[in-house]
Amino acid sequence: MLDIRFANQNRTIKGEPGETLREAAIRNKLSLYPHVFKILNCRGRGLCTSCTVEIVKGSVSPRNEIENKNLARKLKNNPNLRLACQITLTENMGELEVKTHV
Ligand code: FES
Repeated sequence: MLDIRFANQNRTIKGEPGETLREAAIRNKLSLYPHVFKILNCRGRGLCTSCTVEIVKGSVSPRNEIENKNLARKLKNNPNLRLACQITLTENMGELEVKTHV
């Protein structure tokens, strides 16, 4: 089990290696999505960018092509952004801290 701290919510959840950050948040009943995107999101396909998080601390795998394409504009202002649905949790991530609704 991995500890993942969500700074905005001041909450730490447990993640399982192999699941995505989105899946861990949902399993722990922590909402990643702002406003209407709680319902209107792409369900983890990397298309809507409503699950964008900022990596504050910890190391995650490099961004994939979907993220590079769909986050291109936002990355100019903040290079630490990722899509929670595209981050697969691994044992060697260390302590992870993220900010949601960025
Ligand atoms: S859920 Fe739509 S991009 Fe992650």
